[in-house]
Amino acid sequence: MNSPPLTIHNPLIPQMTPKTTSLIELPADLDGTRLPQHVAVIMDGNGRWAKQRGFPRIMGHRRGADALRDLLRCCKDWGISALTVYAFSTENWGRSIEEVDFLMTLFENLFQAELKEMIAEEVKLAVVGNLDNVPSSLYSAIDRARTATQSNHGVRFTVAINYGGRQEIVRACQTIANQVQQGLIKSTDIDESMLSQHLHTADLPDPDLLIRTSGEMRISNFLLWQLAYAEFYVTDTLWPDFDRRAFHQALLNYQQRHRRFGKV
Ligand code: IPE
Ligand code: IPE
Ligand code: MG
Repeated sequence: MNSPPLTIHNPLIPQMTPKTTSLIELPADLDGTRLPQHVAVIMDGNGRWAKQRGFPRIMGHRRGADALRDLLRCCKDWGISALTVYAFSTENWGRSIEEVDFLMTLFENLFQAELKEMIAEEVKLAVVGNLDNVPSSLYSAIDRARTATQSNHGVRFTVAINYGGRQEIVRACQTIANQVQQGLIKSTDIDESMLSQHLHTADLPDPDLLIRTSGEMRISNFLLWQLAYAEFYVTDTLWPDFDRRAFHQALLNYQQRHRRFGKV
């Protein structure tokens, strides 16, 4: 996937070329031709951020939402074409009812409040995960935002809500098994590409870079299939503190990696 073409919306400045606008803010020490196309983020550490300040955990989530808004804008400014973030795992239902309720309401409010901005910024929104058991008002907000941004050509922004990598793979297997059972395909037709096509992320390239904040060195059931060859970057920075400077560091680190994909 190529960087999104940056269109000039102001007809008064038709003489500007896309190049002068697209990567205008990219830090000089980053190579614009070697940026990850797709960045995935496990946004962790909201609770610890709040605890350090003597705030309730929900304050961390609130500030985490601000950090996410900034990162999305940064992806657009720096020419990164896809951003996928882990907002709520299938395991996160195990938290207190107050925290779960707060998060569901926060997501709903964000999809509503940010919709205008997403449209203006040409963001194309997708939500992955099992939305069967999220509150119906959240589902409606997601549905509205997805529909309204569907034909946008800017950053592909994917939010994982009630997402579990294992569950996603099991569901894909069930769908494929059904097709075999109905005689539509043979079991020998099943290959990696077919399985990929049955995941929620079917129309996205695999992430090149996975960032996890707050120092935890684990994948926590995120994009198990899709991260097969992603570069991992873990920072001690807690998610609400993850700003442009922190993202810059992650990208610099990424650009120092030698991606071998099994070769020498
Ligand atoms: C990540 O921060 C947000 C969600 C999982 C919803 P946490 O809430 O996990 O923060 P810590 O890990 O407790 O600090
Ligand atoms: C992973 O963070 C899930 C999200 C960021 C949404 P957790 O805080 O839930 O992960 P664990 O419990 O530390 O593995
Ligand atoms: Mg956590």
